[in-house]
Amino acid sequence: MSSTSSIVIDKKKVKNPPLEVYQLGDKGLRQPAKRVTKIDEELRETVRQMLQTMYSQDGIGLAAPQVGINKQLVVIDTEIDKPEVEPLVLINPVVKRITGPNVTDQEGCLSVVGVYMDVVRQDVVEISYKDEHGRLKTLTADGLLSRVIQHEIDHLNGIMFVDRIPNHLALGQELQKKGFTLKAVKAVKSTP
Ligand code: CO
Repeated sequence: MSSTSSIVIDKKKVKNPPLEVYQLGDKGLRQPAKRVTKIDEELRETVRQMLQTMYSQDGIGLAAPQVGINKQLVVIDTEIDKPEVEPLVLINPVVKRITGPNVTDQEGCLSVVGVYMDVVRQDVVEISYKDEHGRLKTLTADGLLSRVIQHEIDHLNGIMFVDRIPNHLALGQELQKKGFTLKAVKAVKSTP
């Protein structure tokens, strides 16, 4: 095992996930997250709890503001069925560049439970971040991983995926089916 193994937990569902996931309409989801200043065991415990909460709900990404923690912290795992693949932990991530063609694909969010809709994003993202041990890293991703990274970093800026859906008629209908309201949506332009 590598030195990153200290945050590794079983990718299994637990009956009572340690953290509550806030839902669309909660103000906490709309606040810009603050930079993490201390990467220590306490933060790594938060990471473990976020992962356990995410795995328990079949999520592939979770941002700290979704669980009421106002920090620039994200966990991602696009291989939840592969126990040997370690999750990605992004601390204070910075988007360096977003490039590539626009791609449309379906997104969902643990904070908008049950709503899945097409979102247009550019294909490639380059980021820098610190990992759970404070090591500075860079990453270039495309495809699903890029989409999840962009979705989660949006959360750190108080942006939800539903904000990026221009068709408010369809969006409003889907939200209503799941008990949400269009009033909670703050439209942003989908691509730069
Ligand atoms: Co989300």
